[in-house]
Amino acid sequence: MNALDKLATTLAASRQTLPLVRIGGSVSEVAATHYRVIGLSKHLRLGEMISFEVGGRSHMGQVVRIDRDGITAKAFEPHAAAGLGMPVYRMPPLTLSPHPSWKGRVVNALAEPIDGSGPLLPGDHAISIDADPPAPMRRMRVRTPLRSGIRVVDLFTPICAGQRIGVFAGSGLGKTTLLSMFAQCANFDTVVTALVGERGREVREFLDDALARSRARAITVVSTGDESPMMRRLAPRTATAIAEYFRDRGESVLLIVDSITRFAHAARDVALAAGEPAVARGYAPSVFSDLPHLLERAGPGVDGGGSITGIFAVLVDGDDHNEPVADAIRGTLDGHIVLDRAIADQGRYPAVNVLSSVSRVAQNVWTPEQRGLIISLRAMISRFEDTRDLRLMGGYQPGRDAELDKAVQLVPRIYDAMRQTPDDAASTDPFRELSDMLRGA
Ligand SMILES: Nc1ncnc2c1ncn2[C@@H]1O[C@H](COP(=O)(O)OP(=O)(O)OP(=O)(O)O)[C@@H](O)[C@H]1O
Ligand SMILES: [Mg+2]
Repeated sequence: MNALDKLATTLAASRQTLPLVRIGGSVSEVAATHYRVIGLSKHLRLGEMISFEVGGRSHMGQVVRIDRDGITAKAFEPHAAAGLGMPVYRMPPLTLSPHPSWKGRVVNALAEPIDGSGPLLPGDHAISIDADPPAPMRRMRVRTPLRSGIRVVDLFTPICAGQRIGVFAGSGLGKTTLLSMFAQCANFDTVVTALVGERGREVREFLDDALARSRARAITVVSTGDESPMMRRLAPRTATAIAEYFRDRGESVLLIVDSITRFAHAARDVALAAGEPAVARGYAPSVFSDLPHLLERAGPGVDGGGSITGIFAVLVDGDDHNEPVADAIRGTLDGHIVLDRAIADQGRYPAVNVLSSVSRVAQNVWTPEQRGLIISLRAMISRFEDTRDLRLMGGYQPGRDAELDKAVQLVPRIYDAMRQTPDDAASTDPFRELSDMLRGA
């Protein structure tokens, strides 16, 4: 390869196009959460990228507000040291060029490798990080059953390919563990996970434990809690764009976001720095449009193509399920699995509350007999839970109410049959397993 070829390859590989003339401005104000730039207001649009250079490294930022006096930008690095008067340049928009060889890799929100396994091979075309979802009328319907291998899910809230489900729970109730059990499910070609705002230790655990068996088909996008809100807000969008790439190749993709609440927190930080008013518990209005846009991108693809099944962890602050972000997310999804502190306190994991969990496509999965059975099991569990206090106080005597007697006898066994840890074998035929366990007990 001669010197000219080398130069041509280097230029082609560089992320940034190098125009002859660049539009520039300068830093006019620096604050803890953002910086201001003058001289660029007329040339930039909201959401465009800019950069300034410190010590030979360029630091990216994004335009979050434009007014007559200048623009407000937020940096992607938490301690990007913008200085007064520094020159600032406009940059091309953020894009990704995924490649099938990305499977098995771990990247940051900018899709830069962070696993120490060398550079990523770029694909042959660039895709947008903020693509629009397919047009509703061209999308397939969500009706192909998909067994997760998690017994309680496959029985009570069975899912379909292309469905979007939220796992709603307070802190420490087993959201990440449940998501990692989904990640082990053999029915997906690719698993794309966005870990948003997690602690560094948890990231390592997730990669080593949850993805131990499925690492070769997994791509993980990590943005830990100490990264800037811009990175945390970007990570799920990058993961979704990668999932869309594999969906468009016809694959069945599982997209996991842990947690979407931390994405909402990051979006709130960005919106507040941009001067938006806080409306619902500190959340700015744009958070409530960012959320559905992101969630809508998961789901079925166009007819004959692949699909993105989305599983989103939703942290419900203080176990308050009517908190505005949880509410906004619930309305957009096709199902929710609720984890309950009382159940986790009894040591019953996964701590799924089957009475408050719903899968809106379950009727496409159950046979009529199975549906009937689940309805009667739910009624029995409901009876059992409603009379819990009564029974604790000694107000229950067997023989007076046949239905209650049956519930008292069977429900603890059903609960036992639902227990499952990530190390247990995946369930293959949940209805048979349940009846075997009830008979064996
Ligand atoms: N299926 C399970 N089997 C056994 N133990 C479990 C199971 N799921 C959760 N646990 C227990 O609950 C603990 C917390 O789980 P996990 O970290 O998944 O919760 P989380 O909701 O993601 O927490 P956070 O809110 O901190 O993200 C685990 O360390 C484990 O002890
Ligand atoms: Mg977690």
